[in-house]
Amino acid sequence: MIKRVGVLTGGGDAPGLNGVIRGVARAAQNNYNVQVFGFMDGFHGLVENKYMALDMANTSGILHRGGTMLGSSNRDNPFWYPTGTDAEGKTVFADVSDQAIANLNRLGIQVLIVIGGDGSLHIAKQLSEKGVNVVGVPKTIDNDLDATDQTFGFDTAVNTVTEALDRLHTTAESHHRIMVVEVMGRYAGWIALHSGMAGGSDVILIPEIPYDIDIIARKIKQRSAQGKYFSLVTVAEGATEKEGKQVVAKMVEDSFDPVRLGGIGQVVADKLEKATGHESRTTVLGHLQRGGTPSAMDRILTTRLGVKAMDIAVNGPYEQMVSLKGSEIVTVPIDDAIDSLKTVKPDSEIVYAAKAVGICFGDEYDD
Ligand code: F6P
Repeated sequence: MIKRVGVLTGGGDAPGLNGVIRGVARAAQNNYNVQVFGFMDGFHGLVENKYMALDMANTSGILHRGGTMLGSSNRDNPFWYPTGTDAEGKTVFADVSDQAIANLNRLGIQVLIVIGGDGSLHIAKQLSEKGVNVVGVPKTIDNDLDATDQTFGFDTAVNTVTEALDRLHTTAESHHRIMVVEVMGRYAGWIALHSGMAGGSDVILIPEIPYDIDIIARKIKQRSAQGKYFSLVTVAEGATEKEGKQVVAKMVEDSFDPVRLGGIGQVVADKLEKATGHESRTTVLGHLQRGGTPSAMDRILTTRLGVKAMDIAVNGPYEQMVSLKGSEIVTVPIDDAIDSLKTVKPDSEIVYAAKAVGICFGDEYDD
């Protein structure tokens, strides 16, 4: 009989984390009489034994709130955990997974629900190899996890970017400018593709389709010739010029994935200004895409994922991730989700549709 379940939110936050926590805690109490413990700040709380008991009362009023009531961290991997500094002041790392597992055992926790992206789910998988019963819930605004049709947080991020594009559209038009908008997504172009289409972008640049600046400049000049003296360009942070490299903003050495992309927006704006003679401006939306109130779709999705995660926690099988397939919530092996990143297919129907309405991806001349 499962009586005690742990839950944590790991990695970069995403709108909807609270909806999953609420779904887990409430299904536990209403359907199974199971006690839920939430670990604070992702795997940090698991290693340091920092937790709180979750119930109906303290999961009330959080569905519409962004962030996570438990806190999160994209560092603090129990298998490579910062334990101090050496003589040169450099951080020293050690495998403290046994300490994390001892904390679970001491609390009598029989199943751990990990709400996270590929980094956190990799750790969940490693814990399961050491005998921990784990259930995964797919989180990330980037939508780059395989084995689920959509991750939660993505819809909200796309809505945020779309609203920003609508605002930039009007000022771009007034000043006859090229407005370049840099969006998140790491190595996948989902946010740029979806928000760029919804926001009426003239150009969308994504990592999966390397671009040629001359092709984009030609598109912008064509628009001018047709009396459209402004252009909206949505650039994924991971986009690259043909034979070019991704632009890295910084390295965060103790993170699951140390590379932080950023800066490509300004590079594109400068090159387009030079190539077209049109004044250009850049907006980097950054963490605005991660914050704020979740969309209605994400609130419903997270509630369903949280409830399903508790069903699996009680009934098994473990080492599974709850997942959206079509309109159903199903379970898939965690391995399937972390095997490879889900990226945009250049020959997919959605890219075809975008091109058909005139959006330029910088890969081919359309005249
Ligand atoms: O994975 C989510 C994400 O927001 C990416 O889109 C972005 O590249 C990265 O996290 C930013 O990480 P940080 O919060 O460390 O700046």
